[in-house]
Amino acid sequence: MKGLSILAILVARVTTVVAHWNYNNLIVNGQVVGEPYQYVRRTNNSNHPLQLVNSTDMRCNAGGASGTNTSTYTLHAGDEVGFGVEETFGHPGIQQVYLSRAPGLAADYDGSGPWAKVYAATTLANATSNLTFGSEGLLWAPRRTHSFRFVLPGQTPPGEYLLRAEGLALHAAHKLDCAQFYVACAQIRVLGNGTGSPGPLVPIPGVYNNTTPGVLIPQFWTKITDYAVPGPALWPEGTAVQHSVKQLGS
Ligand SMILES: *[C@@H]1O[C@H](CO)[C@@H](O)[C@H](O)[C@H]1NC(C)=O
Ligand SMILES: *[C@@H]1O[C@H](CO)[C@@H](O)[C@H](O)[C@H]1NC(C)=O
Ligand SMILES: *[C@@H]1O[C@H](CO)[C@@H](O)[C@H](O)[C@H]1NC(C)=O
Ligand SMILES: *[C@@H]1O[C@H](CO)[C@@H](O)[C@H](O)[C@H]1NC(C)=O
Ligand SMILES: *[C@@H]1O[C@H](CO)[C@@H](O)[C@H](O)[C@H]1NC(C)=O
Ligand SMILES: *[C@@H]1O[C@H](CO)[C@@H](O)[C@H](O)[C@H]1NC(C)=O
Ligand SMILES: *[C@@H]1O[C@H](CO)[C@@H](O)[C@H](O)[C@H]1NC(C)=O
Repeated sequence: MKGLSILAILVARVTTVVAHWNYNNLIVNGQVVGEPYQYVRRTNNSNHPLQLVNSTDMRCNAGGASGTNTSTYTLHAGDEVGFGVEETFGHPGIQQVYLSRAPGLAADYDGSGPWAKVYAATTLANATSNLTFGSEGLLWAPRRTHSFRFVLPGQTPPGEYLLRAEGLALHAAHKLDCAQFYVACAQIRVLGNGTGSPGPLVPIPGVYNNTTPGVLIPQFWTKITDYAVPGPALWPEGTAVQHSVKQLGS
C-alpha cells in the first residue's frame, strides 16, 4: 500500500488521481446537455481537491473565476438539474449544491456574491440504524455514483446564476485542513415567474472554516457514528437533506 500511495503521488504531478473527480456535465430534465465543460467551468488544477476552505478557489475552483469560455444554459425554474462527473465520487462523503445570482451575465460573474444552498446528499437512509452501518461505518449515499439530480426550486427568480457543485470527501477530514473539496460552477439562465428569495445566504469563502463540524470530523471516518452536514439550511425552507442519490438513468 505504501508503494502504491507514493506512486499515486508521483502520478498526480502529471495526471489525474484515481478516486478524485471533476464535474464536467450539466444535467437538465434527465439528460446531459451539450458537451463536457460546455456549461460547466473547467478547472485548471487537473482533478485535485481544494483543502483550504478560506480560498477564493472554493467558489468555482482554480481557474474557474471567469466563464468566458463557458456557455450559459437556459432552463426553467422547477426543472430538474444535476451534475455528472468524469471518474466517480470515489471517496466517502457528501454532495451539496449552491446557487448564486449573477449581477449581470453568469459568464462575467466570479461568485463573490451571496450563495444559497439548494441540494445536499449525505448518508444513506437509516444510517443511524445499525442495519446500514457497513464494515467502514456510516454509508454515504453519493459514494461510487457518477451523477446526481434534483429539482431547481420553482420559486427561483428569473436571471442568470452560477450553480455550484461541491463534493466533500471525508477520508482524511479528521485532520485539520485535510477535508477534500471538489467544486465546479455551471452557468444557467433561469426563466419563469419565480418570486422567491433564496436564503439563508452565505459568502464563499466564509461559509465554512477549517473547524466547522462536518468539515473537521472528530475521528477517522470509519469510526464516526453520526454526521452533521456543514453549511446553511437548504432553500426553500423545509427542503430535506437527501439520503439517496438520483443518478442519470435511474
Ligand atoms: C487560510 O487557512 C490556512 C490554513 O488554515 C492559513 O494558513 C492561512 O493563513 C489562511 N489564509 C487566510 C487568507 O486567512
Ligand atoms: C489557474 O488559473 C488561475 C487564474 O487564471 C491562475 O492564477 C493559476 O496560476 C492557474 N493555475 C494553473 C495550475 O495553471
Ligand atoms: C474552451 O472550451 C472548449 C470546449 O469545451 C475547449 O475545447 C477549449 O480547450 C477551451 N479553451 C480554453 C482556453 O479553455
Ligand atoms: C429503516 O430500515 C428498517 C429495516 O429495513 C425499516 O423497517 C424502517 O422502516 C426504516 N426506517 C426509515 C425511517 O426509513
Ligand atoms: C449500534 O452498534 C454500536 C457499535 O456496535 C453499539 O454501540 C450501539 O449500541 C448499536 N446501536 C443500536 C441501536 O443497536
Ligand atoms: C409567466 O407568467 C406569464 C403571465 O402569467 C405567463 O404568460 C408565462 O407563461 C409565465 N412564464 C413561465 C415561464 O412560466
Ligand atoms: C468555525 O465555524 C464554526 C461554525 O461552523 C463556529 O462555531 C466557530 O466559531 C468557527 N471558528 C472560527 C475560528 O471562526
